[in-house]
Amino acid sequence: MATNRSGVAWPYGAPQTKGFKVVLLGESAVGKSSLVQRFIKCHFQENASATIGAAFLTRTVSLGDTTVMFEIWDTAGQERYHSLAPMYYRGAQAAIVVYDITNPHTFVRARNWVKQLQRQASPSIVIALAGNKSDLAAKRMVEFEEVQAYADENGLLFMETSAKTAMNVNDIFLAIAIRLPTNEGGAAARGARRLTDGERPRRSCCK
Ligand code: GTP
Ligand code: MG
Repeated sequence: MATNRSGVAWPYGAPQTKGFKVVLLGESAVGKSSLVQRFIKCHFQENASATIGAAFLTRTVSLGDTTVMFEIWDTAGQERYHSLAPMYYRGAQAAIVVYDITNPHTFVRARNWVKQLQRQASPSIVIALAGNKSDLAAKRMVEFEEVQAYADENGLLFMETSAKTAMNVNDIFLAIAIRLPTNEGGAAARGARRLTDGERPRRSCCK
């Protein structure tokens, strides 16, 4: 029987930690790194620098009785790095494809990334679409309803997010965790549904 930190017998088995590889893809400057920084460090930087190659970061969160470690590959959106992308999405259990709601070109690019993932990534990959910079809704050029219809047709998760205000940033990662297949993740074992209060990440500092 497992024991807890005080050495007391714990009848429910050792707490499980599940690692999930998540890759972020999307046009340059849509806010991929900013979303990751917000999720990992609860921090936002105006005028962040462009990513070179890719960055790797992790965050562990408790969801109910399961501990989930997000192993996040934040890729560079600049054209010259595109050929590297398969290296990062190969073997990924989930992808977050990001566009900027104020820039329709970035939604076109996002749809291309989704197509590429559908053709070349693992058939079981969970794909989420993030319409970032929702704090700039006054300058919106991509309609929510249009993207929702596209996401429904393609079986994608979809949320509008803001790395700046933190809106939906934790939620998109957690929505992914509960969608992951049972054999790859404990949190996912309970199926896709809304998180209860007890399942909200305990170390979260952002909404
Ligand atoms: P690459 O690394 O070149 O692929 O870009 P990226 O997608 O990682 O974009 P990055 O996170 O570097 O953000 C680009 C710019 O957009 C920065 O100036 C950020 O401050 C800004 N930005 C990112 N997210 C948001 C957001 O939610 N709202 C607003 N208003 N600005 C944002
Ligand atoms: Mg970046």
